[in-house]
Amino acid sequence: MAPRKKQKAASKLHAGSNPHKQTSSSAQKVSDTQAPAPVAFQQALLDVFCRAFHDNQRDQANATIQEVKGHLFMRDFAKAFANREYLDAYALRWSASRALGYLDIFLHGDLQPVWLSDINTASSPDNNANDPLQTTATSSSGGACRVACIGGGGGAELVASAAAALLAPVPRPKAEVRAVDIADWSSCVEKLTTALTSPQQLSAYASESAKAANKPLIDPGRLQVRFSQHDILNANEDILRGLLSGVHLCTIMFTLNELFATSIARTTAFLLALTDTMALGSWFLVVDSPGSYSEVTMGDGDAATSKRYPMKWLLDHALLEVAGDAGKNRKWKKRVSDDSRWFRLSPLLKYPIDLENMRYQIHLYQRIEPEDS
Ligand SMILES: C[S@@+](CC[C@H](N)C(=O)[O-])C[C@H]1O[C@@H](n2cnc3c(N)ncnc32)[C@H](O)[C@@H]1O
Repeated sequence: MAPRKKQKAASKLHAGSNPHKQTSSSAQKVSDTQAPAPVAFQQALLDVFCRAFHDNQRDQANATIQEVKGHLFMRDFAKAFANREYLDAYALRWSASRALGYLDIFLHGDLQPVWLSDINTASSPDNNANDPLQTTATSSSGGACRVACIGGGGGAELVASAAAALLAPVPRPKAEVRAVDIADWSSCVEKLTTALTSPQQLSAYASESAKAANKPLIDPGRLQVRFSQHDILNANEDILRGLLSGVHLCTIMFTLNELFATSIARTTAFLLALTDTMALGSWFLVVDSPGSYSEVTMGDGDAATSKRYPMKWLLDHALLEVAGDAGKNRKWKKRVSDDSRWFRLSPLLKYPIDLENMRYQIHLYQRIEPEDS
C-alpha cells in the first residue's frame, strides 16, 4: 500500500493520529525496532477500558480489585474469575495494562512477519488437502486477519490484536478475533467490543465540532469478535477447528503455565491437536510470566521424587519433539524466543486506578511444512 494511503487508513482508525509513523518507503520492510504505539493512542485504548468497565464508583472498584487480587495471589483462578463483578474488575485493572503490553509485543519488529505473511488456507482442515481439484488457496495480505486468543476472555488480547492488525505496516481491512475461555467472559467481551467500535458519549453541551470529531476508535465494519466458552483442555476436534481454522495467529497469554499445572498430559495433547488444526504459515504466540513463576511440578510434590519443569521446556518438547516426530519431521519453527522482557507504561498515561508494568517470557512459532531436521 502506498505510504499516503496507509497513513490515511491508520488515521481513519484513530481520529487523525498515525500510531507508528512509517519511516520506510517500503511498506513491506521488516524493522527490528518498530516504534511503539504513541502515547495518545495508548491513552485512547485505556479510555476504552474505562468506558467499558469504570462506573466512577472508585472505592467499590478498588475493593473488588483487592478481592480478585487475593484470589490471584493464592493462585485460585476459579475464585478469581467466579462472577461477573470480578471479571469486570479484572479487565479494568489487569487487562487494560496488558492490552498496552500486548500491543507493544505485536508491534515489535520481530512480530511484523505475523501481520505481513500469508497462511495456506488449503492446509486448514476445513479444506480437503488431498482433493486433487483443490487449488492451493493462500489468504492474501489484503484479506481479514484472524486471531484466536486462548484464555483470552479478559479482552487484553482482543483490544491489542484488533489494533495491531488494523495498524500493521500493511493494514488489514478487517480483524476477526475469536476469544475462548473456560470462564464466561461474554459480557466483558461485548462491553469492550462496544466501547472500541462506538463513539464516546458526549455531554449534551458538547460543541458541534467536538460532535463531528467524535468517531469510534475502530470502525464497526472492520472488527468482528466472537467469544466461546470452553475448557480448551476438553475441546473436541470440531471445537478446535471452529476456533483455529483459517487463523493467522493463535495467542496464549499468561495461560499456558496454568494449563500445564492442571495437566501436563492434557495440555500436551491440546498442543498436538492445535498443531494438526493450524494452517501452514500460521503463527502461535506464547507469553507468560518469566523464570520460576512458570514452572510445573511433575510427581507427587515430594522434593525427593518430584521434578520441576520450566513451561518453556514442556512447550518446546510438545511442539518441536512430540509433534515433530522426535525432531525428525518438525512442524513448527521457533521464530522468536526470549526468557525475559519488560513492557513499561508511559508515565504520561492517565487511568483512574493503578496499572502495572509487565515482565514476561515470549515464544513465537510458525507452522511449517514438515521438514527433516
Ligand atoms: C491469568 S488469566 C490471563 C488472562 C489473559 N490472557 C491476560 O493475559 O490478561 C488466565 C485465563 O485463562 C483462562 N483459562 C484457564 N484455564 C482454561 C482452560 N482450561 N480453557 C480455557 N481457558 C482457561 C482463565 O479463565 C483466564 O481467563
